[in-house]
Amino acid sequence: SLFKGRSKMIALLVPDIMNPFFPELARAVEDVTKQHNFTFVLCNTDDDIDKEMAYLDALKQKSVDGIIIVSSTITAEDINGMGTPIVALDRILSSSLSSVTVNNCVGAREAVQHLKAIGCQRIAHVSGPENVSNAKQRLKGYLEEVQDEQWFHPSYIEQGDYHFENAKAATEKLLNKHRDIDGLFVANDLMGVGALKAAESLGINVPEDLSIIAFDGISLGETTSPALTTMAQPIYQAGARAAEILIEQIENQNLATTNEEFSVKLVERQSTRRCS
Ligand code: RIB
Repeated sequence: SLFKGRSKMIALLVPDIMNPFFPELARAVEDVTKQHNFTFVLCNTDDDIDKEMAYLDALKQKSVDGIIIVSSTITAEDINGMGTPIVALDRILSSSLSSVTVNNCVGAREAVQHLKAIGCQRIAHVSGPENVSNAKQRLKGYLEEVQDEQWFHPSYIEQGDYHFENAKAATEKLLNKHRDIDGLFVANDLMGVGALKAAESLGINVPEDLSIIAFDGISLGETTSPALTTMAQPIYQAGARAAEILIEQIENQNLATTNEEFSVKLVERQSTRRCS
């Protein structure tokens, strides 16, 4: 059979298993791989290139049939010679690889447009890590919306790292520095929860005094108080599509590279509110 000598196994590398975004993504990949009778393996890399390379090595030893990678550090060279079909998911690795992503720049613009539409006049940004392709695109979208505004200054941006803890500190820094901030676009939901905490600790009411919008659409955002407005990614759909593309490539070695981009969608909850 086509799979002679192979393991009938598909692996997914994720950078942060503690962020609920990635289990939601993994769930989808697992469902599709299982439907096609593959065994699913999940590897958590902490965005650490040494861990990533060690996993790739081990997976190669095990003759894994295909790999889906979410990474900001792996380069085309690192996976050259793997001899295994690979699909990049959520973050672009190399133009020569098939990928499934979302339209991060447009989504970020829509987030800022939402804040403008509800009357926010000083809109700050907590960005994601510098080296992550989608964080760069979200920052770019934010800048496209605000850089020509008279009030705008780069100090309205604080760098986050997609984790909760630093986002709380970054938001506190922003809010202490600029008392006039009335809108905040945060680059992912986990940091959005950190931003809510920061506002709470400074006695700033959300959404009365500060509207907060984040990005991802993980279920955690529904459980906060106030619930988090977000630009929701089709997380399940994207994971499932990446698995389908990978399986097509495993079963038909000559398939052309495909780069698919999904749109994100505004989900309005209580952390943003129209000013009256
Ligand atoms: O929350 C995790 C973030 O990292 C998401 O926004 C996702 O797009 C990923 O790259």
